[in-house]
Amino acid sequence: MTEQEQTWLEVDRYLDGVIVRPADVFEAITARCDEAGLPAIAVSPSQGKLLHVLARMVQARNILEIGTLGGYSTVWLATAMESDGRLITLEYDERHADVARRNIAMAGLADRVEIRVGAALDTLPDVAGRGPFDMVFIDADKPNNKAYIEWALKLSRPGGVIVLDNVIRDGEVIEPTSDDPRVISTRAALELFGNDPRLVSTAVQTVGAKGWDGFAIAWVGPAQSA
Ligand code: SAH
Ligand code: DHB
Ligand code: MG
Repeated sequence: MTEQEQTWLEVDRYLDGVIVRPADVFEAITARCDEAGLPAIAVSPSQGKLLHVLARMVQARNILEIGTLGGYSTVWLATAMESDGRLITLEYDERHADVARRNIAMAGLADRVEIRVGAALDTLPDVAGRGPFDMVFIDADKPNNKAYIEWALKLSRPGGVIVLDNVIRDGEVIEPTSDDPRVISTRAALELFGNDPRLVSTAVQTVGAKGWDGFAIAWVGPAQSA
């Protein structure tokens, strides 16, 4: 880790203590993910809290997440809903889903959160009937980002919010001739965000415990009349 990255990490720790103030369950979830050998690629505490704040702002009662891992971001999102809220999260890897299921139960959210195991592009047609969603958080396999944004547009209610993780990846995103399918698809997803007349969109770069990365965030406006 460079000195710069070390400082980002220390600033995140300061913010976690003074303003993010995660409930104890988040540390327990991270510990269980580590024990289970899951990759350390969950959102950071301050990023998880950002998702939570956005979910509260739209008074989310129906949330879709694509990419569960161990359920860390899932719990940040689900705890932003009233007790009648529902969250569906899509995960390809049965082993990740098992860890997430236990973490979600530990957080007392088993009755509000449903994990669908399988490739998201296979489970999304089925999940569509559970929409429209107040919030869609996309954080799965990056080569499908464009397809996931297309689904999110279809399944979001007016007034909802769409968030896409990992849009900067150490600046890789500005490489127009990249042959990396993750970069190509993320650039296409950002163009969709920028061009869709229904969306009010931005993207912000982030530094911190997760290095240099960023989110694209869109507010979904009223449906376009034909
Ligand atoms: N949102 C999580 C991190 C997700 S990591 C958090 O912040 O806590 C990305 C996850 O997407 C991994 O668990 C990976 O198994 C899953 N994934 C990869 N390809 C997928 C696919 N095609 N459909 C659904 N999930 C997929
Ligand atoms: C990776 C995936 C993520 O969702 C993330 O936030 C960081 C890294 C990855 O696949 O490397
Ligand atoms: Mg991510």
